[in-house]
Amino acid sequence: MASVVLVGSQWGDEGKGKVVDRYAERADWVVRYQGGNNAGHTLVVDGDKTVLHLVPSGILHPNVKCAIGNGVVVDAQILEDELGMLADKGVITEGRLFVSYGAHLILPYHKRLDLAREALRGVDKIGTTGRGIGPAYEDKIARRGVRVADLADRDRVDGLVRQRLKELNAILAVHNAPDHRPFTEAEIVEIVDRHVELGQRLRPYFSNVADRLFRGVEAGERILFEGAQGVLLDIDHGTYPYVTSSNTVSSNAATGTGLGFHHLTSVIGVMKAYTTRVGRGPFPTELSDETGEVLRKAGNEFGATTGRPRRCGWLDLVALRYAVRVAGIRQLVVTKLDVLGGLPELPVCVAYELDGRRMTEYPDNVHDLHRVKPVYEKMPGFEEIGAVRRFEDLPAAARDYLRFIADALGVTIALVSVGPGRGEDLELVDPFA
Ligand code: IMP
Repeated sequence: MASVVLVGSQWGDEGKGKVVDRYAERADWVVRYQGGNNAGHTLVVDGDKTVLHLVPSGILHPNVKCAIGNGVVVDAQILEDELGMLADKGVITEGRLFVSYGAHLILPYHKRLDLAREALRGVDKIGTTGRGIGPAYEDKIARRGVRVADLADRDRVDGLVRQRLKELNAILAVHNAPDHRPFTEAEIVEIVDRHVELGQRLRPYFSNVADRLFRGVEAGERILFEGAQGVLLDIDHGTYPYVTSSNTVSSNAATGTGLGFHHLTSVIGVMKAYTTRVGRGPFPTELSDETGEVLRKAGNEFGATTGRPRRCGWLDLVALRYAVRVAGIRQLVVTKLDVLGGLPELPVCVAYELDGRRMTEYPDNVHDLHRVKPVYEKMPGFEEIGAVRRFEDLPAAARDYLRFIADALGVTIALVSVGPGRGEDLELVDPFA
């Protein structure tokens, strides 16, 4: 029995979609356990690009089953659109994709509230994706959410939506902006009707995911859990309040699907060979100069979900050491190493300095992250490596860069990605072995 949890170990956008696609051929299941369509996982197969926001990245492998666990927040309209896009590409999803009855729905008022709150925060905004993620999770925790299981009953959906909008409409009225106005009666009816209809059309996908996965595990099937976002965006362990609204760490793979924690056998962290972040929040190694621009262009660092330019910076081993610890990462996948090819030298942040004190661990108080200064160790650069397919064929400086990371973090490197396409990588360890 082997199940692997794949988590982003920075602020998301580490290239997890490609890695899931790489490992999916060895798995029976690929399962999402948190987040929603704030994620954007890009897959390139034979030059054809597919961007998935909600459907697990294993879907392009015909023999793999996919599941969306109870911990995910589901925008049913986005799900239907994504399934339509996949059908247009000839991908069969029915009978292969299972969506938990326990997953909470993102409804149009969650999106409106997300955008209204961001507008109200002004310069203090979080920089959310505007997809309604936070408000949907709020309703879940406050025990007033609408779940997939509710869609079969129009009266129930109608009651839940109206109950919620009684309060929300009053809040939206306070915002008093044309884009964020309260919902009218006609809009309420439309939301209810549309979601009941979506529920009918999507019904073949709805399932008891926990039970299916449990039976799968009992039968010796291999599960790959596909984390979204990254450890530093975790609601509890990330750079709060500049985080997403779910637990992105590996342990949530159990809660977010209904399996026991002993079913999670290993954790692989995915890290980019440098650092990026979208949205606001502290970022000690950020490069606000032309070098940041060089990385953004070379790495095509624009959000797959919102198209926003990503903030770019050097590798931060202090942050990674923290992520490795809280997510229980034993193996790492390093992505986009090719993007660094051609740079004369590669500064790596090995410590922070705060008020004249050097520290190699994340600060106890997350607010200090705004004040820390990175301490760099400079590694020599290496030439283009996009065509390399074996670790031994990497230039010595690239191998040194990887060894330096592995030694500093006490992990094994399982895979190195040197391009966006399938096969553009070098595998060192089989994660399911
Ligand atoms: P939310 O998840 O839309 O509420 O956004 C909260 C924060 O998480 C913002 O800084 C977003 O930019 C960030 N975020 C959410 N999803 C992703 C992702 O998939 N990749 C990178 N950042 C993300």
